[in-house]
Amino acid sequence: MLRCTLGPRAGPVHRGRQISTRGRPGPPRFQRGSCANVSTNSTVQAAWDHLKSLPKPTLADLFAADPARLETFSTRLELGEEAGGDGIRFDWSKTHLDAAHIAGFDALAAARDFAGRRAALLNGEKINNTEGRAAEHTAQRGVGRESSVEEAMALHGRTKALVEAIHEGALGPIHHLIHIGIGGSALGPALAIDALARHGAHVHVHVVANIDGCALEAALAKADPETTLIAVASKTFTTIETMTNAHSALNWLKEAGVEDPYGRVVALTASPDKAVEWGVDETRVLPFPESVGGRYSLWSSIGFPVALALGWDGFTEFLEGAAAIDRHFASAEGAENLPLRAAYGDQFYSRLMGCQTRACFAYDERLALLPDYLQQLEMESNGKAVTFDGAPVDGPTSAITWGGVGTDAQHAVFQLLHQGTHVVPVDFITSIAPGHDLDPAHHRILLMNCFAQGAALMAGRHSDDGARSYPGNRPSATMLIDDLSPGTLGALIAFHEHRTFANAVLLGINPFDQFGVELGKEIAKSIEKGGAQFDPSTTALLAEAGLSA
Ligand code: F6P
Repeated sequence: MLRCTLGPRAGPVHRGRQISTRGRPGPPRFQRGSCANVSTNSTVQAAWDHLKSLPKPTLADLFAADPARLETFSTRLELGEEAGGDGIRFDWSKTHLDAAHIAGFDALAAARDFAGRRAALLNGEKINNTEGRAAEHTAQRGVGRESSVEEAMALHGRTKALVEAIHEGALGPIHHLIHIGIGGSALGPALAIDALARHGAHVHVHVVANIDGCALEAALAKADPETTLIAVASKTFTTIETMTNAHSALNWLKEAGVEDPYGRVVALTASPDKAVEWGVDETRVLPFPESVGGRYSLWSSIGFPVALALGWDGFTEFLEGAAAIDRHFASAEGAENLPLRAAYGDQFYSRLMGCQTRACFAYDERLALLPDYLQQLEMESNGKAVTFDGAPVDGPTSAITWGGVGTDAQHAVFQLLHQGTHVVPVDFITSIAPGHDLDPAHHRILLMNCFAQGAALMAGRHSDDGARSYPGNRPSATMLIDDLSPGTLGALIAFHEHRTFANAVLLGINPFDQFGVELGKEIAKSIEKGGAQFDPSTTALLAEAGLSA
């Protein structure tokens, strides 16, 4: 029998980045054997079998049976002064998790060596095994391997210097930034810019992702070439959408007679040589490490537009909010660990109840892009068919993540949530403080509606007329933020990153590769090259659109 010995577990990973003035992290202490998964297969199976065998009481029964349910399943996390001093309440009491399931999921997490995987993540080990890379986004927030944190802080120093120079007029008056990127190089900046518009707007940022020229054209129409900067954001600096849009944006500057068009371009990339080769001056290339994944890159130089719009202090608070979650994630055990507890709920609905989707409704107009952001984070990370060791998975992986904003969604899709035949676990996210200065009635009604939806989903209502009957017993969780600020937004995003990681650990999959996106790209390239053979449908479509294969 194959045996493997695990090294000692790590203590909590210390923080200590130079964004704040605290001390540096100590060297990582975690060492582990390489065959943890092999030794845990049977215990993983036993944990799932046990979880499947547990009774599944209704929400009403759970509340009736446990007077302390709210206290147990509703937790407030304080983010600390450096993150702006606010907190977030996480209320999972209206989900079906109970003590027996928590214990069952704790056993699953132990069988999957959650503590070892977490330490491997935070210590910069190569946990992205298919690509032989670490996943060091937390180092960008000052939490992780000492050398990676130091590197991140040095790179942040470059970004800070450029942001401040631009604010001081080094590139002339800059009123607009066209941020060009796609996927992880665009979704995070777009979300943060939208969400934090009230927290200082040094420049107007327009995020352009789509290769469809309509997107760039619309952004350019809002900007003045004389006062516009272009940020080309691409980890690889090869992505066809981004490079095509970058080329057209450069032409726009040239055609407008801007004296030094390349002097108006900033590159945000893990491939600095390619950016220089493309024509960007080395002084305006802001690199980030290869070990930061695209969909986890908002904290690196990809966050440049956020720093430019908010100012460096605002960006620092954003990083601090995320770091507060990192520290919690690094040290809290079992169900006390909020991202892990959220993953218990996700696995409960996906694997034990057969729910294929999970929805997030932000009762906050400023978070309208959050569902889009979470879609990439969760579906590109965990939409996988094989485990770490390449074996087929034995059940569903990522839930299909979708959502929208309340109250709009109430008048569009909530019918299905309340009475449809699909059970959809829902996350509600809202802020106690309003994001506007209008009549407080707006916010009061918004919050009342948010809480009413969760109550209605759980309680339901019987009617002898089936069409008017609500089954109830439908789960929801609520994340109640004191105020939507750079700190709380950073925390909210980092919480979801770790939740995604925790889900991957429970499933035994690698969340850090994305080979599934490659085939379509290759086929598109082969169409462009010409001469390739396709199925009759594709061939006919190409012909009718005037494109020859
Ligand atoms: O195609 C998927 C993807 O690789 C994402 O993971 C990534 O965020 C996006 O493309 C953009 O890639 P890049 O930053 O290299 O342009």
